[in-house]
Amino acid sequence: MTTYKGIVLAGGSGTRLYPLTLSMSKQLLPIYDKPMIFYPISVLMLAGIREILIVTTAESLSDFKNLLGTGEDFGVEFTYVIQQKPEGIAQALILAEPFLAGSPCCLVLGDNIFYGQHFVELLNQATRVEQGCTVFAYHVTNPQRFGVVELDAEMKVLSIEEKPKQPKSNYVVTGLYFFDSTAVAVAKTLSRSNRGEFEITDVIRSYISNNKLNVSLLGRGFAWLDTGTYDSLLDAGHFVETIEKRQGLKIACLEEIAYRKGWLSKEQVIARAQLFQQNAYGKYLLDTAT
Ligand code: TTP
Repeated sequence: MTTYKGIVLAGGSGTRLYPLTLSMSKQLLPIYDKPMIFYPISVLMLAGIREILIVTTAESLSDFKNLLGTGEDFGVEFTYVIQQKPEGIAQALILAEPFLAGSPCCLVLGDNIFYGQHFVELLNQATRVEQGCTVFAYHVTNPQRFGVVELDAEMKVLSIEEKPKQPKSNYVVTGLYFFDSTAVAVAKTLSRSNRGEFEITDVIRSYISNNKLNVSLLGRGFAWLDTGTYDSLLDAGHFVETIEKRQGLKIACLEEIAYRKGWLSKEQVIARAQLFQQNAYGKYLLDTAT
């Protein structure tokens, strides 16, 4: 079986959120009851991935280490690498080369939230792919801001364009990508785009040309949120609050996911709960483990 390693992109400059992100990484801002980065990490964990690389900036490295540590509190293993400048998502693949050491990877953007039924099944399908790339397409009202895919009737991708002025469809690629081990070599051949970045859409395009791109559709019942603007940040917080209060179940509670997967023992979860014993997060952990 192929063992995928995980990469979370938690660099970037977060200029759209200034002044919130002048002195703090966007991915550490709160989404209701937990830091933003918990959400993309939860996706990797749900996919069964335990070796995770956090790509971050030099300024924020110590903050992420304070929050996440080695990963032992979450039953996983975190490695950290600094991206000196935010020169594009594809650059993360090159930075990750020593960490990956030839493994396939799942790359997730640090400001993306995924929530919906049957998500774990879709993740499992993607981790079963041995050769190729899997992306997740989603219908949006404002495709101009994203990587837009043109699909045929069988959901096969005909083309992909980064932030096109005249999008060929309303389907865009979300910030979650599964790549086989050839992606690093592809990323190394890229040159900068017009906006000066190494574009992940160029990596994906090479899989389209080799007929090795799989697309999984996240349907109408699925929530894909990004959190890069004042409004989307607040909306995401309200979304999580609404679901969690209604169901009494948490979204992206890393300790819970680890416990349910058998990566943390009952005792470890209870010890972690002591840290937050004054609040609902701690109570939730206790209820989960007892
Ligand atoms: P963006 O939202 O495109 O960029 P940003 O976070 O710098 O924000 P802004 O547009 O407001 O300046 O990035 C998407 C995600 O990918 C986000 O979590 C940051 C991360 N990222 C990196 O880690 N390195 C990069 O080189 C880029 C471009 C993004």
